[in-house]
Amino acid sequence: PDPVLHKAFQDKFHIGAALNTHQLLGREPQEMEVVKQHFNSIVAENCMKSGRIQPRQGEFDFSISDAFVEFGESNNMHIHGHTLIWHSQTPQWFFVDEEGEKVSKEVLIQRMKDHIQTVVGRYKGRVHSWDVVNEAILDDGSFRESEFYKIIGEDFIKLAFRFAHEADPEAELFYNDYSMSNPGKRKGVVKMVKKLKKEGIPIDGIGMQGHIGLNHPDIEEFEKSLEAYGALGKVVISELDLSVLPSPRRDAGANISDNFEYEEKMNPFKEGLSTSVEAQFNERYTAFFKLFLKHQEKISRVTLWGVNDGNSWKNNWPVEGRTDYPLLFNRENQPKTVVMDIIQ
Ligand code: XIL
Repeated sequence: PDPVLHKAFQDKFHIGAALNTHQLLGREPQEMEVVKQHFNSIVAENCMKSGRIQPRQGEFDFSISDAFVEFGESNNMHIHGHTLIWHSQTPQWFFVDEEGEKVSKEVLIQRMKDHIQTVVGRYKGRVHSWDVVNEAILDDGSFRESEFYKIIGEDFIKLAFRFAHEADPEAELFYNDYSMSNPGKRKGVVKMVKKLKKEGIPIDGIGMQGHIGLNHPDIEEFEKSLEAYGALGKVVISELDLSVLPSPRRDAGANISDNFEYEEKMNPFKEGLSTSVEAQFNERYTAFFKLFLKHQEKISRVTLWGVNDGNSWKNNWPVEGRTDYPLLFNRENQPKTVVMDIIQ
C-alpha cells in the first residue's frame, strides 16, 4: 500500500498530529511537509492553553493560534482545539484577586466564561472540536482537587461545556484525560459523562490521551475503555505516543537528580534503539492500531502527540534531557518501518 497515513485511514478515522510553536512560526519547514503529506487533522500542542492565549487577564495573544488555524484551513484539515479548562499551564491570575486573595465562585465562573467564550468565539466555525475540560478525574475515579474544583465544585465541568456550546453550537465538545484505560478512572469518567448527558449538557465525546509505554497500559483494559466510552458518544485517541524509556514515576523511590548511575539507566538509548526494543516498539504500535481499526466505528480521530521523535515532549518528561523514540517519524523526518506495519 501507499505509505501515506491519511490515505491508509481514509473513511476510517482522521489521523492527526500535534503542532508546536516552532513549527507554526515557520522554523521547521520539513516537519510541516510531513504534516501536510501524512495528516488530515491538527491539534495545538501548547499555543491554545490558557497560559499562552490569555497570560494576563484580558490580554489575549492569538498570534500563534491564528497561524495554527490558518495552516489547518489552507490544508483542509480537521482542526482540534486543546484545551479550554485544565489545572496545568493555567495562569494564577484566574484564581486570585488584586490583593492576592482567592476569588469567589462567582468571580471564577465569570473568568472561565470570558476565557472560553473569547477563545471559542474567535474560532467559531473554524475550529471543529475542542477539549473543553482536560484531566479533571484522578486514577481512582475521584475528582482532582484543582483550583477550579476547590472554588467552584464539580459544576465547573458542566459550566465549561455550556459556555463553549454557547460560543459555537456547531463545535464538537470533548472531555479529555490520561490513564483512561485504568479501571478506576474509567468508572469515574463514565459516571461523570452519564450524569452530564442526563442533565442535557452538550458533550459529544471522550478523548483518551494515549501516552503509552512498552509495558503499560494493558491493551485489554484499553479496549474495555474504548467500548465503555464508545457507548456514550464519540471516542478519540487524542495524544498518542509510545515511550520506550523507563518511567521513574512507576519506579518507587527513584530520585534521579541525586543518582548518576540511576540517571544512566534512565536514558539507555542515547545512541539509538536496540533491535529487540525496536521490535517490541513495532509490535506494540501495530497492536494498538489494529485495535483502533477494530473499533473504527466508534473512533473518529487518532492524533499523534508530535510529528517526529526529536520534537516529542517525551524527551523531557517526566525526566528532562532524554532520548526517546515515541512517534512514527524519526529525527530526520523519515517514516519509521512501523508506518508500513500499521497501514497494512
Ligand atoms: C505537554 C506538551 O507536550 C509540552 O510541550 C508541555 O511542556 C506540557 O504539556 N497531557 C496533555 C498535554 O493534555 O497538553 C500535555 O502536553 C501532555 C499531557
